[in-house]
Amino acid sequence: MRDPPQQGARRRLLASLPALLTRSVLARLAPVISLGELAACAAPRTLSTGAGVQVPVSALRRLIAERTDPVTGRCRYVAETDRARIERPILLARAGESIDLQVINRLPQPTTIHFHGMTLPAAQDGAGFEPIAPGASARLQFVVRNRSGLYWFHPHAHGFTAEQVYAGLVGLLIVRDDDDAEVDRALAIAPSNRQACAISDVRISNGVIAPYAPTAEECASGWIGERTLVNGTLDPVLDVAPGWVRLQLLNAGNARGWLLGLREIEGERRDQLEIPFHLLGTDGGLLPAPVALDRVFVHPAERIDLVFVARAGTRVSAVSLPFEPRNQMALMPRAMAHPARAGHAPLAAVAVCAENEGESGAVNAARRDGGAITLLAIQVAADYGAAALPPLPGRISGLSDAASNASDPASSSSSTSPPPRTRRIRLDFDPDAGFVIDQQAYTMNETGWVLARSVREIWEIKNSPISMPHPMHLHGLAFRVLRRQGTFGPARALATCGAGRVATDLGVKDTVVVWPNETVWLAIDGSLPADAAFAGAQRYLFHCHNLEHEDAMMMRNVVVT
Ligand code: C2O
Ligand code: CU
Ligand code: CU
Repeated sequence: MRDPPQQGARRRLLASLPALLTRSVLARLAPVISLGELAACAAPRTLSTGAGVQVPVSALRRLIAERTDPVTGRCRYVAETDRARIERPILLARAGESIDLQVINRLPQPTTIHFHGMTLPAAQDGAGFEPIAPGASARLQFVVRNRSGLYWFHPHAHGFTAEQVYAGLVGLLIVRDDDDAEVDRALAIAPSNRQACAISDVRISNGVIAPYAPTAEECASGWIGERTLVNGTLDPVLDVAPGWVRLQLLNAGNARGWLLGLREIEGERRDQLEIPFHLLGTDGGLLPAPVALDRVFVHPAERIDLVFVARAGTRVSAVSLPFEPRNQMALMPRAMAHPARAGHAPLAAVAVCAENEGESGAVNAARRDGGAITLLAIQVAADYGAAALPPLPGRISGLSDAASNASDPASSSSSTSPPPRTRRIRLDFDPDAGFVIDQQAYTMNETGWVLARSVREIWEIKNSPISMPHPMHLHGLAFRVLRRQGTFGPARALATCGAGRVATDLGVKDTVVVWPNETVWLAIDGSLPADAAFAGAQRYLFHCHNLEHEDAMMMRNVVVT
Protein backbone atom coordinates (compact mmCIF):
# COMPACT_ATOMS: atom_id res chain seq x y z
CA MET A 1 0.00 0.00 0.00
CA ARG A 2 1.30 3.46 -0.78
CA ASP A 3 0.18 7.05 -0.80
CA PRO A 4 -1.57 8.23 -3.96
CA PRO A 5 1.06 9.14 -6.52
CA GLN A 6 0.69 12.41 -8.37
CA GLN A 7 3.06 11.66 -11.23
CA GLY A 8 2.27 8.99 -13.74
CA ALA A 9 5.97 8.23 -14.16
CA ARG A 10 6.36 7.22 -10.56
CA ARG A 11 3.23 5.16 -10.73
CA ARG A 12 4.49 3.27 -13.77
CA LEU A 13 7.79 2.67 -12.06
CA LEU A 14 6.11 1.28 -8.99
CA ALA A 15 3.72 -0.77 -11.02
CA SER A 16 6.63 -2.52 -12.69
CA LEU A 17 8.47 -3.26 -9.45
CA PRO A 18 8.37 -6.89 -8.48
CA ALA A 19 5.80 -7.54 -5.82
CA LEU A 20 8.60 -8.72 -3.56
CA LEU A 21 9.36 -5.17 -2.56
CA THR A 22 6.15 -4.68 -0.63
CA ARG A 23 6.39 -4.77 3.11
CA SER A 24 3.49 -7.10 3.58
CA VAL A 25 5.20 -9.60 1.33
CA LEU A 26 8.36 -9.39 3.37
CA ALA A 27 6.37 -9.95 6.52
CA ARG A 28 4.81 -13.00 4.96
CA LEU A 29 8.07 -14.50 3.78
CA ALA A 30 9.74 -14.11 7.16
CA PRO A 31 6.82 -14.16 9.52
CA VAL A 32 8.40 -14.69 12.91
CA ILE A 33 11.77 -13.03 12.74
CA SER A 34 13.46 -9.73 12.03
CA LEU A 35 10.57 -7.33 12.40
CA GLY A 36 13.12 -4.59 13.00
CA GLU A 37 14.90 -5.46 9.78
CA LEU A 38 11.64 -5.46 7.88
CA ALA A 39 11.03 -1.83 8.65
CA ALA A 40 14.62 -1.02 7.72
CA CYS A 41 14.60 -2.71 4.31
CA ALA A 42 11.25 -1.39 3.15
CA ALA A 43 13.20 1.30 1.38
CA PRO A 44 10.94 2.93 -1.26
CA ARG A 45 9.37 5.81 0.57
CA THR A 46 6.08 5.58 -1.24
CA LEU A 47 5.57 2.10 0.16
CA SER A 48 6.15 3.20 3.74
CA THR A 49 2.70 4.18 4.88
CA GLY A 50 3.35 2.91 8.37
CA ALA A 51 0.35 0.67 7.97
CA GLY A 52 0.03 -2.91 6.98
CA VAL A 53 3.08 -4.48 8.59
CA GLN A 54 2.03 -7.89 9.81
CA VAL A 55 2.97 -9.01 13.29
CA PRO A 56 2.69 -12.70 14.17
CA VAL A 57 0.82 -13.00 17.46
CA SER A 58 3.53 -15.31 18.82
CA ALA A 59 5.92 -12.34 18.79
CA LEU A 60 3.44 -9.85 20.25
CA ARG A 61 4.12 -8.69 23.82
CA ARG A 62 2.25 -5.40 24.19
CA LEU A 63 -0.54 -3.49 22.49
CA ILE A 64 -0.50 0.18 23.36
CA ALA A 65 -3.40 2.56 22.79
CA GLU A 66 -2.05 6.09 22.49
CA ARG A 67 -3.22 9.52 21.43
CA THR A 68 -0.97 11.18 18.86
CA ASP A 69 -2.68 14.55 18.57
CA PRO A 70 -4.68 16.26 21.32
CA VAL A 71 -6.07 18.85 18.87
CA THR A 72 -7.73 16.43 16.45
CA GLY A 73 -7.89 13.58 18.96
CA ARG A 74 -6.19 11.09 16.58
CA CYS A 75 -5.06 7.86 18.23
CA ARG A 76 -3.35 4.64 17.17
CA TYR A 77 -2.43 1.18 18.30
CA VAL A 78 1.25 0.31 18.61
CA ALA A 79 2.45 -3.28 18.86
CA GLU A 80 5.63 -4.16 20.67
CA THR A 81 7.56 -7.38 20.26
CA ASP A 82 10.81 -8.11 22.07
CA ARG A 83 12.68 -6.43 19.22
CA ALA A 84 10.42 -3.99 17.44
CA ARG A 85 7.73 -1.37 17.75
CA ILE A 86 5.13 -1.37 14.98
CA GLU A 87 2.56 1.37 14.55
CA ARG A 88 -0.90 0.28 13.38
CA PRO A 89 0.02 -3.39 13.13
CA ILE A 90 -1.92 -6.12 11.39
CA LEU A 91 -1.87 -9.20 13.62
CA LEU A 92 -1.42 -12.59 12.05
CA ALA A 93 -2.34 -15.90 13.71
CA ARG A 94 -2.78 -19.52 12.79
CA ALA A 95 -5.83 -21.25 14.20
CA GLY A 96 -4.81 -22.79 17.54
CA GLU A 97 -2.14 -20.24 18.41
CA SER A 98 -2.11 -18.39 21.73
CA ILE A 99 -2.23 -14.66 22.28
CA ASP A 100 -0.74 -13.36 25.50
CA LEU A 101 -0.11 -9.65 25.82
CA GLN A 102 -0.32 -6.56 27.98
CA VAL A 103 -2.81 -3.92 26.92
CA ILE A 104 -1.41 -0.53 27.88
CA ASN A 105 -3.74 2.46 28.06
CA ARG A 106 -1.95 5.71 27.27
CA LEU A 107 -5.20 7.50 26.47
CA PRO A 108 -6.74 10.18 28.71
CA GLN A 109 -9.91 8.04 28.80
CA PRO A 110 -10.75 4.52 29.96
CA THR A 111 -10.41 1.89 27.27
CA THR A 112 -10.33 -1.88 26.64
CA ILE A 113 -9.36 -4.07 23.70
CA HIS A 114 -12.11 -6.33 22.40
CA PHE A 115 -11.19 -8.93 19.77
CA HIS A 116 -14.35 -8.77 17.68
CA GLY A 117 -15.59 -12.12 16.39
CA MET A 118 -13.27 -14.29 18.44
CA THR A 119 -14.60 -17.10 20.64
CA LEU A 120 -13.37 -15.76 23.97
CA PRO A 121 -13.96 -16.47 27.65
CA ALA A 122 -15.90 -13.51 29.05
CA ALA A 123 -12.94 -12.53 31.23
CA GLN A 124 -10.82 -12.01 28.09
CA ASP A 125 -13.55 -10.41 25.98
CA GLY A 126 -12.64 -6.80 26.78
CA ALA A 127 -16.35 -6.03 26.58
CA GLY A 128 -16.19 -2.97 28.80
CA PHE A 129 -17.29 -4.41 32.13
CA GLU A 130 -13.78 -3.77 33.46
CA PRO A 131 -12.41 -0.71 31.67
CA ILE A 132 -8.68 -0.05 31.89
CA ALA A 133 -8.10 3.35 33.52
CA PRO A 134 -5.88 5.96 31.86
CA GLY A 135 -2.25 5.00 32.51
CA ALA A 136 -3.14 1.46 33.59
CA SER A 137 -2.65 -1.87 31.84
CA ALA A 138 -4.24 -5.30 31.76
CA ARG A 139 -3.27 -8.76 30.58
CA LEU A 140 -5.12 -10.37 27.68
CA GLN A 141 -4.63 -14.05 27.09
CA PHE A 142 -6.51 -16.47 24.87
CA VAL A 143 -6.27 -19.23 22.32
CA VAL A 144 -7.33 -18.50 18.73
CA ARG A 145 -10.18 -20.98 18.27
CA ASN A 146 -11.85 -19.49 15.21
CA ARG A 147 -11.79 -20.50 11.60
CA SER A 148 -9.55 -18.62 9.22
CA GLY A 149 -10.89 -15.20 8.38
CA LEU A 150 -10.58 -11.50 9.07
CA TYR A 151 -11.21 -10.53 12.68
CA TRP A 152 -10.45 -7.24 14.35
CA PHE A 153 -9.83 -5.47 17.63
CA HIS A 154 -11.13 -2.18 18.96
CA PRO A 155 -11.89 -0.32 22.20
CA HIS A 156 -15.08 -1.25 24.04
CA ALA A 157 -15.29 1.00 27.12
CA HIS A 158 -18.99 1.84 27.23
CA GLY A 159 -19.64 5.47 26.30
CA PHE A 160 -16.21 5.86 24.64
CA THR A 161 -16.30 3.25 21.89
CA ALA A 162 -17.53 5.45 19.03
CA GLU A 163 -15.10 8.27 19.77
CA GLN A 164 -12.07 6.00 20.18
CA VAL A 165 -12.75 3.84 17.11
CA TYR A 166 -13.25 6.94 14.96
CA ALA A 167 -10.03 8.37 16.42
CA GLY A 168 -8.12 5.51 14.81
CA LEU A 169 -8.18 2.65 17.31
CA VAL A 170 -8.92 -0.16 14.87
CA GLY A 171 -6.70 -3.18 14.26
CA LEU A 172 -6.97 -6.30 12.13
CA LEU A 173 -6.32 -9.91 13.09
CA ILE A 174 -5.92 -12.28 10.16
CA VAL A 175 -6.47 -15.91 11.10
CA ARG A 176 -5.14 -18.56 8.74
CA ASP A 177 -5.65 -22.27 8.43
CA ASP A 178 -5.34 -24.97 5.78
CA ASP A 179 -8.60 -24.08 3.95
CA ASP A 180 -7.40 -20.49 3.72
CA ALA A 181 -4.03 -21.52 2.30
CA GLU A 182 -5.73 -23.83 -0.20
CA VAL A 183 -7.70 -20.91 -1.69
CA ASP A 184 -4.49 -18.95 -2.28
CA ARG A 185 -2.84 -22.01 -3.79
CA ALA A 186 -5.74 -22.88 -6.09
CA LEU A 187 -5.98 -19.32 -7.43
CA ALA A 188 -2.20 -18.77 -7.53
CA ILE A 189 -2.69 -15.56 -5.54
CA ALA A 190 0.54 -13.58 -5.70
CA PRO A 191 1.58 -12.36 -2.24
CA SER A 192 1.02 -8.72 -3.28
CA ASN A 193 -2.47 -9.69 -4.44
CA ARG A 194 -3.78 -10.62 -1.04
CA GLN A 195 -4.67 -7.59 1.04
CA ALA A 196 -6.50 -7.10 4.32
CA CYS A 197 -8.01 -3.65 4.79
CA ALA A 198 -9.81 -1.92 7.62
CA ILE A 199 -11.74 0.87 5.90
CA SER A 200 -13.20 3.72 7.95
CA ASP A 201 -15.09 6.73 6.69
CA VAL A 202 -13.77 9.97 8.13
CA ARG A 203 -14.53 13.67 7.87
CA ILE A 204 -11.96 16.05 6.47
CA SER A 205 -11.94 19.67 7.43
CA ASN A 206 -9.15 22.15 6.74
CA GLY A 207 -7.18 19.36 5.11
CA VAL A 208 -6.97 17.14 8.17
CA ILE A 209 -9.17 14.46 9.68
CA ALA A 210 -11.80 16.29 11.65
CA PRO A 211 -12.23 15.56 15.35
CA TYR A 212 -15.12 13.43 16.54
CA ALA A 213 -17.81 16.02 17.16
CA PRO A 214 -21.26 14.61 16.46
CA THR A 215 -24.27 16.75 17.16
CA ALA A 216 -27.06 15.37 19.31
CA GLU A 217 -28.84 14.41 16.09
CA GLU A 218 -25.77 12.54 14.82
CA CYS A 219 -25.45 10.80 18.15
CA ALA A 220 -28.92 9.41 17.46
CA SER A 221 -28.45 8.53 13.77
CA GLY A 222 -24.70 7.95 13.42
CA TRP A 223 -21.46 9.78 12.57
CA ILE A 224 -20.63 9.51 8.88
CA GLY A 225 -17.60 10.71 6.92
CA GLU A 226 -16.99 11.52 3.26
CA ARG A 227 -13.48 10.09 2.75
CA THR A 228 -11.88 6.79 3.68
CA LEU A 229 -8.93 5.74 5.76
CA VAL A 230 -7.51 2.36 4.79
CA ASN A 231 -5.43 0.78 7.56
CA GLY A 232 -4.92 4.29 8.89
CA THR A 233 -3.86 5.89 5.57
CA LEU A 234 -6.00 8.43 3.72
CA ASP A 235 -6.77 7.53 0.07
CA PRO A 236 -4.01 4.95 -0.45
CA VAL A 237 -3.48 2.97 -3.65
CA LEU A 238 -2.85 -0.77 -3.46
CA ASP A 239 -0.37 -2.13 -5.99
CA VAL A 240 -1.25 -5.56 -7.31
CA ALA A 241 -0.09 -7.81 -10.11
CA PRO A 242 -2.42 -8.99 -12.90
CA GLY A 243 -4.38 -12.12 -11.97
CA TRP A 244 -6.64 -13.05 -9.09
CA VAL A 245 -6.75 -10.49 -6.28
CA ARG A 246 -8.07 -11.47 -2.86
CA LEU A 247 -9.38 -8.69 -0.62
CA GLN A 248 -10.42 -9.15 2.99
CA LEU A 249 -12.31 -5.99 3.90
CA LEU A 250 -13.65 -4.72 7.21
CA ASN A 251 -16.20 -1.92 7.40
CA ALA A 252 -14.55 -0.15 10.33
CA GLY A 253 -16.76 2.92 10.10
CA ASN A 254 -18.98 4.11 12.92
CA ALA A 255 -22.31 4.11 11.10
CA ARG A 256 -22.04 4.09 7.30
CA GLY A 257 -23.27 1.08 5.35
CA TRP A 258 -21.64 0.16 2.03
CA LEU A 259 -23.23 -1.19 -1.10
CA LEU A 260 -19.86 -2.38 -2.33
CA GLY A 261 -19.08 -2.72 -6.02
CA LEU A 262 -15.85 -2.83 -8.04
CA ARG A 263 -15.20 -0.46 -10.92
CA GLU A 264 -12.49 -0.63 -13.50
CA ILE A 265 -11.77 3.06 -13.98
CA GLU A 266 -8.82 3.08 -16.36
CA GLY A 267 -7.28 0.75 -18.86
CA GLU A 268 -7.97 0.24 -22.54
CA ARG A 269 -11.59 1.31 -22.34
CA ARG A 270 -10.85 4.41 -20.26
CA ASP A 271 -14.35 4.34 -18.89
CA GLN A 272 -15.97 3.09 -15.75
CA LEU A 273 -17.14 -0.44 -15.85
CA GLU A 274 -18.62 -2.42 -13.02
CA ILE A 275 -16.77 -5.68 -12.80
CA PRO A 276 -17.93 -8.94 -11.25
CA PHE A 277 -16.33 -10.54 -8.21
CA HIS A 278 -16.78 -13.65 -6.12
CA LEU A 279 -17.59 -13.67 -2.44
CA LEU A 280 -15.40 -16.23 -0.66
CA GLY A 281 -16.13 -15.54 2.96
CA THR A 282 -17.76 -13.43 5.64
CA ASP A 283 -17.20 -12.49 9.31
CA GLY A 284 -16.34 -16.00 10.50
CA GLY A 285 -14.47 -17.38 7.50
CA LEU A 286 -15.00 -19.13 4.20
CA LEU A 287 -18.34 -19.95 2.59
CA PRO A 288 -18.96 -23.49 1.33
CA ALA A 289 -18.40 -22.24 -2.22
CA PRO A 290 -17.64 -18.92 -3.99
CA VAL A 291 -20.70 -16.82 -4.90
CA ALA A 292 -20.65 -14.63 -8.04
CA LEU A 293 -21.83 -11.07 -7.31
CA ASP A 294 -21.66 -7.56 -8.66
CA ARG A 295 -22.54 -5.79 -5.41
CA VAL A 296 -22.89 -6.57 -1.73
CA PHE A 297 -24.02 -4.72 1.39
CA VAL A 298 -21.39 -4.46 4.11
CA HIS A 299 -22.40 -2.71 7.31
CA PRO A 300 -20.23 -1.56 10.21
CA ALA A 301 -18.20 -4.41 11.78
CA GLU A 302 -19.03 -6.85 8.96
CA ARG A 303 -16.20 -8.40 6.94
CA ILE A 304 -16.10 -9.79 3.44
CA ASP A 305 -13.48 -11.90 1.69
CA LEU A 306 -13.66 -11.57 -2.10
CA VAL A 307 -11.68 -12.30 -5.24
CA PHE A 308 -11.71 -10.63 -8.64
CA VAL A 309 -9.59 -10.77 -11.76
CA ALA A 310 -7.26 -7.79 -12.10
CA ARG A 311 -6.48 -7.00 -15.73
CA ALA A 312 -2.98 -5.75 -16.49
CA GLY A 313 -2.58 -1.99 -16.54
CA THR A 314 -6.02 -1.15 -15.21
CA ARG A 315 -7.06 0.68 -12.10
CA VAL A 316 -9.87 -0.69 -9.98
CA SER A 317 -11.87 1.17 -7.36
CA ALA A 318 -13.87 -0.43 -4.62
CA VAL A 319 -16.78 1.94 -4.18
CA SER A 320 -19.95 2.16 -2.19
CA LEU A 321 -22.71 2.65 -4.77
CA PRO A 322 -25.49 5.07 -3.86
CA PHE A 323 -28.48 3.43 -2.21
CA GLU A 324 -31.62 4.38 -0.34
CA PRO A 325 -30.50 3.91 3.27
CA ARG A 326 -34.04 3.51 4.53
CA ASN A 327 -33.48 5.91 7.34
CA GLN A 328 -37.10 6.62 8.12
CA MET A 329 -36.55 8.29 11.42
CA ALA A 330 -38.41 11.36 12.46
CA LEU A 331 -35.95 11.87 15.26
CA MET A 332 -36.30 14.19 18.18
CA PRO A 333 -32.63 15.04 18.76
CA ARG A 334 -31.74 15.14 22.38
CA ALA A 335 -28.49 15.78 24.16
CA MET A 336 -27.41 12.54 25.75
CA ALA A 337 -24.20 11.49 27.41
CA HIS A 338 -23.28 8.05 28.62
CA PRO A 339 -22.93 8.23 32.41
CA ALA A 340 -19.42 6.69 32.12
CA ARG A 341 -18.24 9.86 30.35
CA ALA A 342 -18.69 12.02 33.44
CA GLY A 343 -15.29 13.30 34.53
CA HIS A 344 -13.50 12.49 31.22
CA ALA A 345 -12.81 15.05 28.52
CA PRO A 346 -13.26 14.17 24.83
CA LEU A 347 -10.09 13.10 22.94
CA ALA A 348 -10.15 16.33 20.95
CA ALA A 349 -11.00 19.78 22.18
CA VAL A 350 -14.58 19.63 20.92
CA ALA A 351 -17.94 18.68 22.34
CA VAL A 352 -19.50 15.26 21.73
CA CYS A 353 -23.28 14.91 21.31
CA ALA A 354 -23.81 18.58 22.02
CA GLU A 355 -27.25 20.07 21.42
CA ASN A 356 -27.15 20.73 17.66
CA GLU A 357 -24.14 22.97 17.36
CA GLY A 358 -21.70 22.78 14.51
CA GLU A 359 -22.34 21.46 11.03
CA SER A 360 -25.06 18.92 10.74
CA GLY A 361 -24.29 15.88 8.62
CA ALA A 362 -27.57 16.40 6.82
CA VAL A 363 -26.34 19.56 5.09
CA ASN A 364 -23.47 17.71 3.43
CA ALA A 365 -24.72 15.14 0.91
CA ALA A 366 -21.41 13.26 1.04
CA ARG A 367 -21.88 12.70 4.75
CA ARG A 368 -25.03 10.70 4.41
CA ASP A 369 -25.65 6.99 4.74
CA GLY A 370 -26.25 5.61 1.25
CA GLY A 371 -24.20 8.36 -0.43
CA ALA A 372 -21.60 7.23 -2.99
CA ILE A 373 -18.04 7.03 -1.70
CA THR A 374 -14.77 5.59 -2.98
CA LEU A 375 -13.50 3.04 -0.51
CA LEU A 376 -10.21 1.88 -1.99
CA ALA A 377 -8.10 2.30 -5.15
CA ILE A 378 -6.10 -0.53 -6.68
CA GLN A 379 -3.45 -0.15 -9.39
CA VAL A 380 -2.81 -3.25 -11.48
CA ALA A 381 0.74 -3.57 -12.82
CA ALA A 382 1.48 -3.91 -16.50
CA ASP A 383 1.75 -7.48 -17.68
CA TYR A 384 5.22 -8.86 -17.13
CA GLY A 385 4.62 -12.43 -18.10
CA ALA A 386 1.55 -13.49 -16.15
CA ALA A 387 0.62 -17.15 -16.26
CA ALA A 388 -2.81 -18.47 -17.23
CA LEU A 389 -5.66 -17.69 -14.83
CA PRO A 390 -6.55 -20.72 -12.69
CA PRO A 391 -10.29 -21.50 -12.39
CA LEU A 392 -12.19 -20.86 -9.15
CA PRO A 393 -12.48 -23.99 -7.00
CA GLY A 394 -16.05 -25.26 -6.61
CA ARG A 395 -15.82 -25.94 -2.90
CA ILE A 396 -13.68 -23.93 -0.48
CA SER A 397 -14.75 -25.11 2.99
CA GLY A 398 -16.73 -27.82 4.74
CA LEU A 399 -19.42 -25.38 5.96
CA SER A 400 -23.01 -26.58 5.45
CA ASP A 401 -26.04 -24.44 4.60
CA ALA A 402 -27.73 -23.47 7.87
CA ALA A 403 -31.19 -22.96 6.33
CA SER A 404 -31.46 -26.30 4.56
CA ASN A 405 -30.52 -27.87 7.85
CA ALA A 406 -32.57 -25.69 10.16
CA SER A 407 -33.37 -28.38 12.68
CA ASP A 408 -29.64 -28.71 13.21
CA PRO A 409 -28.54 -25.14 12.53
CA ALA A 410 -25.04 -25.20 13.87
CA SER A 411 -24.52 -28.82 12.88
CA SER A 412 -22.93 -29.66 16.20
CA SER A 413 -25.80 -31.22 18.11
CA SER A 414 -27.36 -34.60 17.62
CA SER A 415 -30.60 -34.90 15.67
CA THR A 416 -32.34 -36.35 18.74
CA SER A 417 -32.22 -33.03 20.62
CA PRO A 418 -35.52 -31.09 20.93
CA PRO A 419 -36.28 -28.34 18.37
CA PRO A 420 -34.72 -25.04 19.39
CA ARG A 421 -36.86 -22.45 21.17
CA THR A 422 -37.43 -19.12 19.49
CA ARG A 423 -36.43 -15.92 21.27
CA ARG A 424 -38.32 -12.90 19.95
CA ILE A 425 -36.28 -9.71 19.89
CA ARG A 426 -37.65 -6.28 18.93
CA LEU A 427 -35.69 -3.21 17.83
CA ASP A 428 -37.50 0.08 18.42
CA PHE A 429 -37.00 3.77 18.89
CA ASP A 430 -38.00 5.33 22.18
CA PRO A 431 -38.09 9.15 22.30
CA ASP A 432 -36.51 9.16 25.75
CA ALA A 433 -34.08 6.26 25.61
CA GLY A 434 -33.20 6.33 21.89
CA PHE A 435 -32.90 3.04 20.06
CA VAL A 436 -33.74 0.14 22.34
CA ILE A 437 -33.81 -3.63 22.27
CA ASP A 438 -37.06 -5.06 23.64
CA GLN A 439 -38.20 -1.65 24.85
CA GLN A 440 -35.56 -1.60 27.54
CA ALA A 441 -32.69 0.80 28.01
CA TYR A 442 -29.48 -1.03 28.88
CA THR A 443 -27.71 -0.94 32.20
CA MET A 444 -24.42 -2.77 32.60
CA ASN A 445 -25.63 -4.72 35.62
CA GLU A 446 -28.82 -6.06 34.07
CA THR A 447 -29.27 -9.82 34.13
CA GLY A 448 -30.04 -9.84 30.45
CA TRP A 449 -30.90 -12.95 28.51
CA VAL A 450 -29.90 -16.31 29.91
CA LEU A 451 -28.92 -19.03 27.47
CA ALA A 452 -28.18 -22.56 28.65
CA ARG A 453 -24.82 -23.86 27.52
CA SER A 454 -24.97 -26.18 24.51
CA VAL A 455 -28.60 -25.31 23.87
CA ARG A 456 -29.60 -24.07 20.45
CA GLU A 457 -32.02 -21.19 20.00
CA ILE A 458 -33.55 -19.37 17.10
CA TRP A 459 -33.42 -15.61 17.46
CA GLU A 460 -36.14 -13.75 15.61
CA ILE A 461 -35.03 -10.13 15.37
CA LYS A 462 -37.65 -7.70 14.12
CA ASN A 463 -36.83 -4.09 13.36
CA SER A 464 -39.63 -1.55 13.55
CA PRO A 465 -40.85 -0.08 10.20
CA ILE A 466 -39.97 3.46 11.27
CA SER A 467 -36.34 2.92 12.01
CA MET A 468 -32.82 2.61 10.59
CA PRO A 469 -30.70 -0.35 9.52
CA HIS A 470 -29.10 -1.79 12.66
CA PRO A 471 -25.98 -3.99 12.32
CA MET A 472 -26.56 -6.28 15.30
CA HIS A 473 -23.53 -7.99 16.85
CA LEU A 474 -23.25 -10.87 19.33
CA HIS A 475 -20.13 -11.51 21.41
CA GLY A 476 -18.90 -14.99 22.27
CA LEU A 477 -21.12 -17.07 19.98
CA ALA A 478 -20.94 -16.96 16.21
CA PHE A 479 -24.27 -17.59 14.45
CA ARG A 480 -25.86 -18.49 11.14
CA VAL A 481 -28.61 -16.63 9.27
CA LEU A 482 -31.67 -18.82 8.59
CA ARG A 483 -34.14 -16.49 6.94
CA ARG A 484 -35.12 -12.90 6.17
CA GLN A 485 -38.57 -11.42 5.65
CA GLY A 486 -39.93 -7.91 5.03
CA THR A 487 -36.69 -6.77 3.40
CA PHE A 488 -37.11 -3.60 1.35
CA GLY A 489 -36.23 -2.94 -2.33
CA PRO A 490 -32.47 -2.59 -2.88
CA ALA A 491 -31.62 -5.18 -0.26
CA ARG A 492 -34.34 -7.59 -1.37
CA ALA A 493 -33.06 -7.39 -4.94
CA LEU A 494 -29.88 -9.04 -3.64
CA ALA A 495 -31.75 -11.76 -1.73
CA THR A 496 -31.00 -14.51 -4.21
CA CYS A 497 -29.73 -17.17 -1.82
CA GLY A 498 -32.94 -18.82 -0.61
CA ALA A 499 -35.14 -17.98 2.40
CA GLY A 500 -34.84 -14.26 1.62
CA ARG A 501 -31.11 -14.35 2.29
CA VAL A 502 -28.28 -12.41 0.67
CA ALA A 503 -24.88 -13.92 -0.15
CA THR A 504 -23.23 -12.78 3.07
CA ASP A 505 -25.93 -14.66 5.01
CA LEU A 506 -24.45 -17.95 3.80
CA GLY A 507 -21.37 -17.68 6.00
CA VAL A 508 -20.57 -17.79 9.71
CA LYS A 509 -21.56 -14.41 11.11
CA ASP A 510 -21.07 -12.32 14.22
CA THR A 511 -22.76 -9.16 12.92
CA VAL A 512 -25.94 -9.01 10.84
CA VAL A 513 -27.83 -6.02 9.51
CA VAL A 514 -31.56 -5.82 10.20
CA TRP A 515 -33.27 -3.32 7.88
CA PRO A 516 -36.32 -1.30 8.93
CA ASN A 517 -39.43 -3.49 8.82
CA GLU A 518 -37.31 -6.60 8.35
CA THR A 519 -37.32 -9.77 10.42
CA VAL A 520 -34.16 -11.89 10.51
CA TRP A 521 -33.98 -15.38 11.98
CA LEU A 522 -30.63 -16.54 13.40
CA ALA A 523 -29.44 -19.96 14.54
CA ILE A 524 -27.63 -19.52 17.84
CA ASP A 525 -25.65 -22.35 19.40
CA GLY A 526 -24.82 -21.91 23.09
CA SER A 527 -21.94 -24.39 22.90
CA LEU A 528 -18.71 -23.07 24.33
CA PRO A 529 -15.30 -24.77 24.30
CA ALA A 530 -14.89 -27.47 26.99
CA ASP A 531 -11.94 -25.67 28.48
CA ALA A 532 -11.26 -24.38 32.01
CA ALA A 533 -11.15 -20.81 30.68
CA PHE A 534 -14.87 -21.10 29.85
CA ALA A 535 -15.95 -22.67 33.17
CA GLY A 536 -18.90 -21.00 34.91
CA ALA A 537 -21.38 -18.50 33.55
CA GLN A 538 -20.04 -16.35 30.71
CA ARG A 539 -21.43 -12.84 30.29
CA TYR A 540 -21.46 -11.59 26.70
CA LEU A 541 -23.14 -8.72 24.86
CA PHE A 542 -25.63 -8.30 22.06
CA HIS A 543 -25.65 -4.79 20.63
CA CYS A 544 -25.97 -2.56 17.62
CA HIS A 545 -22.59 -1.91 15.96
CA ASN A 546 -23.63 1.51 14.73
CA LEU A 547 -21.20 2.88 17.32
CA GLU A 548 -23.35 5.86 18.21
CA HIS A 549 -26.18 3.43 18.96
CA GLU A 550 -23.81 1.21 20.91
CA ASP A 551 -22.71 4.13 23.09
CA ALA A 552 -26.35 5.16 23.45
CA MET A 553 -26.82 1.73 25.04
CA MET A 554 -28.66 -0.18 22.32
CA MET A 555 -27.32 -3.25 24.05
CA ARG A 556 -28.27 -6.29 26.13
CA ASN A 557 -26.29 -8.71 28.29
CA VAL A 558 -26.33 -12.35 27.21
CA VAL A 559 -25.31 -14.86 29.86
CA VAL A 560 -24.38 -18.39 28.84
CA THR A 561 -24.77 -20.59 31.91
CU1 C2O B 1 -17.02 -4.99 17.67
CU2 C2O B 1 -19.15 -5.41 21.09
O1 C2O B 1 -18.07 -5.11 19.43
CU1 CU C 1 -17.57 -8.13 19.44
CU1 CU D 1 -28.42 0.69 15.50
